[in-house]
Parts: sequence; structure tokens; C-alpha cells
Amino acid sequence: MRASIPVLAVAALMVCACAQEHRLGSAGITDAGLHPHTPSLSITPAQATPSRPPREPAYYNMVNTSRPILALTFDDGPHPQLTPRLLDILRQQGVRATFYVIGRNVETYPEIARRIVAEGHEIANHTWNHPALTKVSAAKLKQEIESTTKVIERVTGRRPTNMRPPYGAINDRVRQSLLQDHKLDVIMWSVDPLDWKRPGASVVTQRMVQGAKPGAILLAHDIHPGTIEAMPQTIAQLKAKGYGFATVSQLLALREPEVAAPAAADLTPASYGGEPTVEVSGESPAGY
Ligand code: NI
Repeated sequence: MRASIPVLAVAALMVCACAQEHRLGSAGITDAGLHPHTPSLSITPAQATPSRPPREPAYYNMVNTSRPILALTFDDGPHPQLTPRLLDILRQQGVRATFYVIGRNVETYPEIARRIVAEGHEIANHTWNHPALTKVSAAKLKQEIESTTKVIERVTGRRPTNMRPPYGAINDRVRQSLLQDHKLDVIMWSVDPLDWKRPGASVVTQRMVQGAKPGAILLAHDIHPGTIEAMPQTIAQLKAKGYGFATVSQLLALREPEVAAPAAADLTPASYGGEPTVEVSGESPAGY
């Protein structure tokens, strides 16, 4: 489907506003007791999907941390051939990732969903049918989220603690519902390689590596062959730059308080120096 440019522009402004809110809101949050400059992050499978910490759900484009850790995220699976290939690569590389799965795909390929969890990755909610949540009723939104949480929990034994809205489509109504009614963190991304346009594996790698920074959340899709093909080089180059990999929940546990955050009145979209939000263009974001 093709969303109009004005709608996307409004959505982008709202994303910006949310990022500011989070920036301010996170000022008082301390990290999980991990030393910020500890050089290596050792994560065992048992920690891969931590239970929700005692905090309110929030909206994130990335995570404020000084540690060279980032989160690889893969949307729209499980795919019957490509997701297992990706899991093989991640296992060979010793890398944990987060999978934003579509509920109906989990129902169709439950064994792949179980493998995702068994190999230490995080599994999270990407709705049942992948609608733009900004275009559905409150009742439909509830059904999309709850049915997906339910099938994930039934199949894997894990209840997801965060979600990503299809197409990155978000507005205040949807955001409030996800955070307050469903108690889910809303996870966007800070790096978008536009892999759904199938630009070729080397371009996907280049875009993901260029966008990397501590606390980054990298978006990709495990339903495109070129994305899977890009992963060995992407991971190798990120490792060469000194990055480690965490699931989204692990990354959230590494949050550090922001220092010297400006007063709310000083934060306008123009002066906000934070991270890039949703890439907005005139093109259809149908690939998300
Ligand atoms: Ni998607």
C-alpha cells in the first residue's frame, strides 16, 4: 500500500517527539549495574530474554549506552527457508539477535519459532497480519497484538516484552495503546539498510556497518535472500569495528542515564541532536 507523503511526514514528527520524550524520560534511569566500560559482554542463553524489569514500557529508536553493543533485528518471519539459514549463520558467528515475528507465520512454522528461542535469540511481536496499526480500529489493534503474543507464548513458552509496529507506522493513539494497554516496549530502529528494496548483499552490509554506533538498533528482514547473504560480512565487519551483539531486551538493560539533558523547553525538533528516526521518503514503505 502507498501512504501519502504528508501522512509520513506527520508520523516522522511524532517519532521525533517520542524520541525527545524518551530522552528526557530516561534521565533518571540507571543501568542494570553493569560497568559502562567493561570491554566485553558475556551473555548466556538463560539471560537472552530477561523478565521485564520494574519500569514503565517506553518507545526507543536506539539505546543510550557508551558500550560498543548493538542489536540486530529481523522482521516479518519466520520464513521456512531463510530464517533457518540466518539462524545457522548467527550460531556460527556466536551472535544473538531479535526476531519481530508475524503471528500467522509463527502458527505456520512453530518449529522455527522454537528454534529462535532455543538458540538464545529474543522473539518479539510484529502483529498477526502486519497491518499499519495507524489504520485499524482499537479493537483490531488489540486483536493483532494479543493473538500474536498468545501464539508466541503457546509455541515457545516465552511472552514477548516488546513489539515493532509494521511499516514503522505509529501515532499517539497507537503508541499509548501499546505502551499502556499492552505493556509492551515499542522498538523502532536507528539504522535502516532498506533491504526490502533488495539492493544487493554488499549494499546491505555497507549501510548497516556505516550506521553502527553504541546502542544502535539495526533493522533487517529475514524474508529476503540478499539480507541473509549479507549477514556473514555484516557481522564480520561489525566485529572488526569492535562491536558486540545483544538482543533488544539485553540492550535495554545496558541503558545509561543521559547527562546534562537540556530542559524540556529547549528541546524543539530543530534543536534535537538525537538519533535519526524513521527514514521518510516519498516511496512506499511497503517492504517493512
Ligand atoms: Ni514488517
